[in-house]
Amino acid sequence: MADQASRLREQMSLWLKAQQLGREVGAQDVGREAGFLSAPVFAIMSGKGGVGKSNLCVNLALAFAEDVMRVLVIDADAGFADVEILFDSTPILTLCDVVAGASIEEALLAPRPHVDVLAGGSGRFFDEIGEDGWGRLWDGIARVSARYAWVLVDCAPGVHALAERILRQGANPICVVTPEPTAITDGYALLKWMRVKELGVEPWLVVNRAKSKTEADDTAARLVDAAAKFLHMRVIYAGWIRDDPALVKSVMARRPLLQHVPGSPAAVGYRQLARWIQKRAHSLGRGVGGEGAAR
Ligand SMILES: Nc1ncnc2c1ncn2[C@@H]1O[C@H](COP(=O)(O)OP(=O)(O)OP(=O)(O)O)[C@@H](O)[C@H]1O
Ligand SMILES: [Mg+2]
Repeated sequence: MADQASRLREQMSLWLKAQQLGREVGAQDVGREAGFLSAPVFAIMSGKGGVGKSNLCVNLALAFAEDVMRVLVIDADAGFADVEILFDSTPILTLCDVVAGASIEEALLAPRPHVDVLAGGSGRFFDEIGEDGWGRLWDGIARVSARYAWVLVDCAPGVHALAERILRQGANPICVVTPEPTAITDGYALLKWMRVKELGVEPWLVVNRAKSKTEADDTAARLVDAAAKFLHMRVIYAGWIRDDPALVKSVMARRPLLQHVPGSPAAVGYRQLARWIQKRAHSLGRGVGGEGAAR
């Protein structure tokens, strides 16, 4: 457990160093040259599908952008791309094209101020991506990461090679569950997979669609306790989002909740979570200045 915490702390301090270096030399390529990512990368994951990952990514990105921080959202659920739909934007190039050799810079969409998106595309699946394609994608992400304060990767549900790759490259998992027993069981299975694979991560946990704080806290406690007891794994409860009919309406309107109904309970929850992430990152030794700060 100490290893997991120190690994995250080490990453945060590397990111800080990379941002400082980026400021000093003015290099966009600093992440790649230094051999690591120059912004914190979060993999938004779940065991069960449909628990709210894509909406979390999109609205967290907007919450960071409201605080004038630049964010990159990567839709890594290739074949079932959702992020572009939630932003109601139409990509010309996607992650699949980057895998095939297109430049990531050309593929990026800018659906909102301070928010860039690498759309997922469709018709190609991650199991089909070979070492070369993966290398091209990761090189691109590392290269552009210096421009952002945060990188959020919207992952496909369940366990897959892509998640394993990005976690091994230093991304931090944010696991999303709902209070439903199936989502909790699948969430536990996801944590177990991380343990069995010895990924050395300290996952953060978000409870989505809770009816009350008590329900969210109880759900989180079950997973945090089970992970500690049976997996000897530290899971950090990051926060919760209320089950909110306004979110369903925002999806139907193809307009992210933070813009569609900015004062709704779930919107408030997304903002609180964004603040928690900033505070936690600061306490782990990472600032939010450098290229990522759009101020
Ligand atoms: N906080 C919430 N309140 C109410 N409904 C929600 C909430 N979060 C998600 N939903 C509902 O769940 C649906 C699925 O959300 P979303 O697409 O974000 O899930 P996902 O985890 O990305 O799904 P997938 O695993 O298929 O990628 C939304 O369209 C909405 O109807
Ligand atoms: Mg999704």
